[in-house]
Amino acid sequence: MNQISTTVSSEIPAKRIALLKGDGIGPEIVSAAVRVLERIADRYGHSFWFQEYLIGGQAVESCGSPLPEETLAACREADCVLLGAVGGPAYDSLPAPQRPETGLLALRSELGLYANLRPVRLFPQLAQTSPLRLERIASGFDILIIRELTGGIYFGKRGRRQGCFGEEAFDTENYSRMEIERITHVAFQAAMKRNRRLISVDKANVLESSRLWREVVHDISGGYPDVDSSDMLVDNAAMQLIRDPAQFDVLLTSNLFGDILSDEASQLTGSIGMLASASLGEGRSGLYEPIHGSAPDIAGKDIANPIATILSAAMMLRHSLGLEQEADAIEAAVENVLDQGLRTADIAIPGITAIGTQAITEAVVSAL
Ligand code: IPM
Ligand code: MG
Repeated sequence: MNQISTTVSSEIPAKRIALLKGDGIGPEIVSAAVRVLERIADRYGHSFWFQEYLIGGQAVESCGSPLPEETLAACREADCVLLGAVGGPAYDSLPAPQRPETGLLALRSELGLYANLRPVRLFPQLAQTSPLRLERIASGFDILIIRELTGGIYFGKRGRRQGCFGEEAFDTENYSRMEIERITHVAFQAAMKRNRRLISVDKANVLESSRLWREVVHDISGGYPDVDSSDMLVDNAAMQLIRDPAQFDVLLTSNLFGDILSDEASQLTGSIGMLASASLGEGRSGLYEPIHGSAPDIAGKDIANPIATILSAAMMLRHSLGLEQEADAIEAAVENVLDQGLRTADIAIPGITAIGTQAITEAVVSAL
C-alpha cells in the first residue's frame, strides 16, 4: 500500500479512492487521471484520498497473486476504485490462477460488480479518425453498452479432459434467471434516462443460455412500457454496428458478447483510447477503468492516450461520488482539448503532430 496524496482537508471526510495502476501503460494513465482529480479537488473544494494497491502482473511479481488479499480488502473499504489495465506478454504463460486477467475477473466478482456501463459516443472532433466514411456518421452516435460482468462463460465451469480424439478443452456459458433479471433492469433504467430504445443482444437461434436470456428480457420489458425494446442476434449486431451505429441507444449484452462488441464499437469512435467504463453492483464501491488493455508495446513511452481513464474518473465522480457537475466539467475539458486540435498518436490524423500522455493531461487540467 502506498499513499500518494491527500488533498485539501475539509469538514467532510475525504473520499477514499483505491488506485490499481496495474501493468503496461496502467501507471501512466492512472497518474494522468489523478492529476485531473486533484485539479477537481482544488477547484471544487473536495478531499480525495488516493491509495495505491497492486493488481495483475505487478502483483504476481511482488506477492505471487494477481489479486492480493490486501488489495481486495482495500477495494471493499474504499468509496471507489480506479484501475488502469492488467496483463502483458510476460504473464501469458502463467497458470490460469496467476494470470493478471484472473485477478481482474476475481475483483469484479468479489465486489459484486455485475453491471458494466460502456458509453460509446462519437466526439464530433474525431469524426475523421473513425474508419467509417463521414456520411455514415454524419449524425453522430451515442450508444451505451450495458455488459453483464460477473456471469456467463467468463465464470462458467471450464477445464480439460481426454476425449475420443485426444485432449479437449471446454468453457461453459451459464446464466441464471436472477443474473439476467438484474442486468436487464439496469439496462431498462438506463434507457429510461436516455432515448428509451433498448436492443438486447443474444444468440437465441443456437444457444439455450441465450433463449433464457431472451425470455427474461421479454418478461421484464413489460414493466417498462415506455421503452422500445427488441432483440438482435450477436452476429447481426456486429454487422449493424458498422452499417449504422446511430440506430443504437442502449445495447444490453452478456459478458462475452459485450466484451467483443465494445471493442468493435470503440473503433467507430476513432480509438479505443477514448472509451471509459463503470462497473457497478449492489455494494458501495464501484470500479472505473478504461476498456482498453495494458498496451505493453507503448508502455513507459509517454505516448498512451489517457483520455479513457480520465473519462472513467469522470464516471466515478458521477456514479460513486454524486459529483455530477464535476464529472460534466471533466468531460467538457476533454472536449475543449479536442477542440484545440490536441491529439495523442492514436487519434492524430496526417498533418497533426501528436502530443504525449503528460502534455494532453496538462491540457485537460488547464481547461478545468
Ligand atoms: C475488458 C478486458 C477484460 C475482459 C480482460 C482484460 C479480462 O478485455 O475489460 O474488456 O475481458 O473483461
Ligand atoms: Mg475487452
